Amino acid sequence: MKRIGMLTSGGDCQSLNATMRGVVKGLIHLEGNVEFYGFEDGYKGLIYGNYKRLTSKDFSGILTRGGTILGTSRQPFKLMRVPDENGVDKVEAMKSTYKYLDLDCLVVLGGNGSQKSANMLSEEGLNVVSLPKTIDNDLWGTDMTFGFQSAVDIATNAIDCIHTTAASHDRVFIVELMGHKVGWVTLHAGIAGGADVILIPEIPYNLNHVIEAIKRRSEQGKGFTILAVAEGAISKEDAKLSKKQYKEKLANRQHSTVGYELAAQIEEATGQEVRVTIPGHTQRGGSPVPFDRVISSRLGAAAAELIHNEDYGKMVIMKGYEVSSIPLKETAGKLKYVSPDDQIVKQAKTLGISFGD
Ligand code: F6P
Repeated sequence: MKRIGMLTSGGDCQSLNATMRGVVKGLIHLEGNVEFYGFEDGYKGLIYGNYKRLTSKDFSGILTRGGTILGTSRQPFKLMRVPDENGVDKVEAMKSTYKYLDLDCLVVLGGNGSQKSANMLSEEGLNVVSLPKTIDNDLWGTDMTFGFQSAVDIATNAIDCIHTTAASHDRVFIVELMGHKVGWVTLHAGIAGGADVILIPEIPYNLNHVIEAIKRRSEQGKGFTILAVAEGAISKEDAKLSKKQYKEKLANRQHSTVGYELAAQIEEATGQEVRVTIPGHTQRGGSPVPFDRVISSRLGAAAAELIHNEDYGKMVIMKGYEVSSIPLKETAGKLKYVSPDDQIVKQAKTLGISFGD
């Protein structure tokens, strides 16, 4: 009989429950008798020993339910080795909870920071298997993370809804989407929603080029322009600043987000009315789309196979449409960025979409 601990860590997404269900169904199928322990609110539950004993019943009926039945929280990796306010050594505490429950494996569903912590625990001697969660699709080593397609669906829907009203009023619309460091959601939703301009962190923009793109549309007799802008979009000028200088600049920015800042600049330069829409956390909400349900189930089954084979220290990944796994130490700490040379970017440009570069 195996004893499995499980936690969901970092920002939530639509497909966490579907993935846990996949792991549990797979393990029960492969192992028969399995005991599950769910840690509450991510690594916090593992540190402070907050867990619940779960049975297969707890994972029934959750394929379509967004959020996470375990709860989640952000426990920054850089603070993992820093004792908490009561002097608790978090790493030792996690190891001792794992040992106390006599676990055979800890299953971690998480994004970049959570994978770093999973790798650290693996290096500390725990058996760990992880799964690639994030709407940002920015985990190195996997072509696809679960949650991404559901977020793109919602972001695209936001752009679709803006389209009709933008056309009626002849306005410029900015739809600001999630993605501080990477622009995958904005890039995909921008193309899917027919945005005219896409601005992402990896391709710094020149404001004059953005304005030219808007004016070009007006000259072509198109009254409205839609910009899909990632929350981390950055101008060429600001991209030259050091991290510290940029942080200071942001702290003193007159506008609350890049979307509002651009809106003011575009209004001034073109005289056109500009409106900003920010779908925000709705992008992480609701039910997973069928594509996510499929990959969550497949990734979950693959994690169950790894555990069944006692092949630990791995993150399950997708390459193309194939599921496999890579050592945690290979992926931990690396992000998968959009490259200006990616085919998808070049094709978007061929379609006439401006990246403001
Ligand atoms: O990492 C997922 C994500 O949704 C990012 O796209 C976004 O920038 C961030 O989390 C928001 O974090 P929080 O939920 O802590 O505000």
